[in-house]
Amino acid sequence: MIVLAIETSCDDTSVAVVNDKRRVLAMKTVSRLKEHAKFGGVVPEIAARHHEESILFAAESALSLSGIKKSEINAIAVTNKPGLKGSLLVGTSFAKGISLAKNLPLICVNHIEAHAVSCIIENDEISPPFLSLVISGGHTSIIEVKNYKNFKTHFETIDDAAGEVLDKVARNMGFPYPGGAVLDKMAKLGDKSKFKMPIPKIENFSFSGIKTWAINIEKKIDEDTKKDLAASLVYGISNYVSNHLIHIANKINYKKITIGGGVACSEVLREVIEKKCQEQNFKFYSTSKKYCSDNAAMIGILGIFQTV
Ligand code: KG4
Ligand code: ZN
Repeated sequence: MIVLAIETSCDDTSVAVVNDKRRVLAMKTVSRLKEHAKFGGVVPEIAARHHEESILFAAESALSLSGIKKSEINAIAVTNKPGLKGSLLVGTSFAKGISLAKNLPLICVNHIEAHAVSCIIENDEISPPFLSLVISGGHTSIIEVKNYKNFKTHFETIDDAAGEVLDKVARNMGFPYPGGAVLDKMAKLGDKSKFKMPIPKIENFSFSGIKTWAINIEKKIDEDTKKDLAASLVYGISNYVSNHLIHIANKINYKKITIGGGVACSEVLREVIEKKCQEQNFKFYSTSKKYCSDNAAMIGILGIFQTV
């Protein structure tokens, strides 16, 4: 089975051609981050217009890179939720158009569920059940993947997402949006015990108090101490989310752990989770950065598994 997959839930326009052997035959992702950086975050109206401008180019590029003929495509997969309304509408309308014109089945895929299973793209040996941390600029959740059609959310942020905090703190430090990757690099150079990040005492994720804590410190420190704040924050968040991840894995007796979402690109986070997994004898699976952040490959792969 060969699927043309479309992802337009936020700011990246991504189209991929994937097959039922979990292989990504080609993927084209068009990022217009620089234009959003001027505003310090994604502007929904601008994102929707960008998708409209880029989607045909992304689809034609992905198809020609894959070497697959249009007639060889067996189905269309598309992100239908959650996401920015205008952005989703561009992708779903485009997908419906092809599906109708070519008489192909349309598979609607949940973006968060796709992040939760993205690790399967490059790890042939993993299959559900497994526990996944989805951590991005819009979401922070711990999701139990019982099978490809049955997901249970155990933890979900009640306010900000982890990536939102990193982006906001980085912005206050003077770095362009999105600043998560910059803070991740700075964190490795700083003293992580310099500031003690507060840990919310609730049975769920919450990041707004952490954001306020970091912003208040940022206002008072000199340039050189910023790397210590980055270290305290990035290691603090990594420990916070991974402790809950391990706790839930033990509670439901799952031994396979994965991560997805843009913040899963963080080397600090990967290092912290990997260490905790080793201590517990859990298997930890991660994937390339291009499949962690928003991408169409994960939409196509989950779409295939949801139809078979
Ligand atoms: O999944 P994603 O591309 O978009 C959504 O939010 O859905 O995630 C973007 C987030 C941003 O907050 C960005 O700062 C963060 O991922 N990010 C990182 C890294 N690369 C991207 N955070 C920490 N370390 C990184 N290396
Ligand atoms: Zn995402």
